[in-house]
Amino acid sequence: MKFQYSALLALAASAYAAPPTQSIKEVARQASAGCSSAVTIDASTNPFKKYTLHPNTFYRKEVEAAVAAITDSSLAASAAKVADVGSFLWIDTIANIAKVEPAIADVPCTNILGLVIYDLPGRDCAAKASNGELKVGEIDKYKSQYIDPIVTLLKAHPNTAFALLIEPDSLPNLVTNADLTTCKDSASGYEEGVAYALKSLNLPNVVMYIDAGHGGWLGWDANLKPGAQGLAKVYKAAGSPKQVRGFSTNTAGWNAWDQSPGEFSTASDAKYNKCQNEKIYVDTFAPLLKAAGMPNHAIIDTGRNAVTGLRKEWGDWCNVAGAGFGVRPTADTGDELADAFVWIKPGGESDGTSDSSATRYDSFCGKDDAFKPSPEAGTWNQAYFEALVKNAKPAF
Ligand code: BGC
Repeated sequence: MKFQYSALLALAASAYAAPPTQSIKEVARQASAGCSSAVTIDASTNPFKKYTLHPNTFYRKEVEAAVAAITDSSLAASAAKVADVGSFLWIDTIANIAKVEPAIADVPCTNILGLVIYDLPGRDCAAKASNGELKVGEIDKYKSQYIDPIVTLLKAHPNTAFALLIEPDSLPNLVTNADLTTCKDSASGYEEGVAYALKSLNLPNVVMYIDAGHGGWLGWDANLKPGAQGLAKVYKAAGSPKQVRGFSTNTAGWNAWDQSPGEFSTASDAKYNKCQNEKIYVDTFAPLLKAAGMPNHAIIDTGRNAVTGLRKEWGDWCNVAGAGFGVRPTADTGDELADAFVWIKPGGESDGTSDSSATRYDSFCGKDDAFKPSPEAGTWNQAYFEALVKNAKPAF
């Protein structure tokens, strides 16, 4: 995932552990899977008031393996608690669709399983770290081998509730990085792909949020309206699907929720961006989305935004050194437009490799404020995870 600046515009940005043998707790969790009848999510209300974001089994296993590798017993005890925090599961390749079925197995009726849909052709067009498996032009493959099988799976589990984040940083890139050849080439596939995903995944047991970057990206004066119109255009192209609830922020790059003055408010270009914290961004972007004809409630990733003052530039998105786990998932946001704080990026999974000889090496991952060494995007970085635990606010 990525970002960068262009003129006034800022921007930004799994391996999982081998399954341990099933614990008694795990068997008990599985026994509690699903509701006794079909789930219908009313996307005109806040689904996170009704459902708790599920601590998915894949992240749980990553965390459990990480805890086993920690020798400091007090840190290990804190880290172990992370396994119980709800977070989204990323379906970042066709092969990883195989994670969905096992992830559904332990979701109780009170919980909602969060999934990130992330495999567009020409993915991560403004950066390299998360370039995906599908090439520009492979839209038919995206539809038939990626989206369609996910639709089949979600339909096969009507008694489970799902929250989907649709394609992080794709539509924001079309607003701020449209001048890059890679983004120009990807544009029609992104729009067609996101519209297809929204239309096809419009199922009663699903609620969807479309990624809208963060305040340091689409929050710039020049980006707000085009950003809202860009999302609404694709939403309408999909036939205005009923199960779309709004947008999601703070995953591809992040900010504190309501720190005031905002972290970058003394920067020389701050006068061009009124969205100096994520709350202002949500409250500013939402009315524009509504005016453009799209539902406008937000979920905000607080998985890594506990510590500020770490980045040299707002657009620095890769493995920010010193970051800490933030507020745990909750529907108690104090803002009617903000449905929930959620954990979307699984803390401990890398944003990108710091190995400058790697094909997907992005220079943002080599910056002074990026943690090094870091492995390939999506793979586990034990030292980074431990730092997130140590720097967590609230503390674990
Ligand atoms: C990576 C994905 C990964 C996701 C969550 C992205 O930056 O490209 O492969 O699943 O982060 O860690």
